[in-house]
Amino acid sequence: MDGNGRWAQERNLSRIDGHRAGAESVRTIVRACRRIGIPVLTLYAFSKENWQRPSREVQALWRLLRDYLKSELGEMMENNIRLNALGDIDELPRNVNRLLRDVMSKTATNNEMILNLALSYSGRSEIIRATQRLAAACVAQQLSPVEINESTFSAYLYTGDMPDPDLLIRTSGERRISNFLLWQTAYTELYVSPVYWPDFREPQLMEALEDYQRRERRFGRTREQRAKEVW
Ligand code: IPE
Ligand code: MG
Repeated sequence: MDGNGRWAQERNLSRIDGHRAGAESVRTIVRACRRIGIPVLTLYAFSKENWQRPSREVQALWRLLRDYLKSELGEMMENNIRLNALGDIDELPRNVNRLLRDVMSKTATNNEMILNLALSYSGRSEIIRATQRLAAACVAQQLSPVEINESTFSAYLYTGDMPDPDLLIRTSGERRISNFLLWQTAYTELYVSPVYWPDFREPQLMEALEDYQRRERRFGRTREQRAKEVW
């Protein structure tokens, strides 16, 4: 979700106004994905690098997250959405951390859609954390090094047994991964939208999904091999 600041700047508003408008896009896009039947939606809301922003802006982002969680819990329950966090959430302000954990536990058995929020998230840190946990499991003799393969490794990531993303949408025209789901996006289709996140609403989402549907995913194989598998 990129471009809140530029969206605001172009309107002579404060960056925080941009984030507020961006939060409305979050509400719209989550609702649309639930309706379409997207099983997992991951929103990159706050990176580890974002801690370096002015503290006024960082605080405003946490306030917006708190408002979002409070206002959306009812709808998450009604629509059977499980909220999950990816990232080092113990770094979050205490009240936000507590609320987040509360919403996660209240929605834990919801099973129509997973809404992942990447918060204080870094893809490289996630890989290091998984490695540390794997090493600890080996030292504790719960796991033998030869048992480490792509699937056991994946299980130690924040995304656990969730499927890898099919599509990654980046808004505001930036063409970077920016430390997002580095392991999980190995075969993910990338889509760059020129639109700033506050202007990214249903029509823009539909355009991205239509673009994705026109792509041919071969996962390293030939077109003929893939055609046989699919049909
Ligand atoms: C939102 O957009 C992303 C967040 C970290 C919340 P930005 O705040 O990065 O907007 P730009 O890049 O300054 O336009
Ligand atoms: Mg940005």
